[in-house]
Amino acid sequence: MAYSDKVMEHFTNPSNIGELKDADGTGEVGNPTCGDVMKITIKVENDVIKDIAFKTLGCAAAIATSSVTTEMAKDKTLDEAMTITRDQVAEELGGLPPQKMHCSNLAADALHRAIEDYRSKQGDK
Ligand code: FES
Repeated sequence: MAYSDKVMEHFTNPSNIGELKDADGTGEVGNPTCGDVMKITIKVENDVIKDIAFKTLGCAAAIATSSVTTEMAKDKTLDEAMTITRDQVAEELGGLPPQKMHCSNLAADALHRAIEDYRSKQGDK
């Protein structure tokens, strides 16, 4: 199984790692296939994702997809970030080995959940 250079780059030197204090939205997902978990936190200003961070307990592909997803989502509007798909995340990394495609599910799902969490909190106000 070979990872692309971009996967290795994001795995060894991930962007936006950690957890934001006072996050406006939080998305947490588990991968039923392997049990790995990921948490994404976002800060939102005027409907734009101004800051984003991830914490992932998972494989190299899960960490690389988390990292690239945070880069893709930063400075996007919430509507734009909601359209980021699992396939786009894998594509952005130059592809994933077929047996690792399920790992790209986590990041896009966690991002979407963080946005939904933010929106539901806004609705509560
Ligand atoms: Fe669990 Fe990749 S093996 S996310």
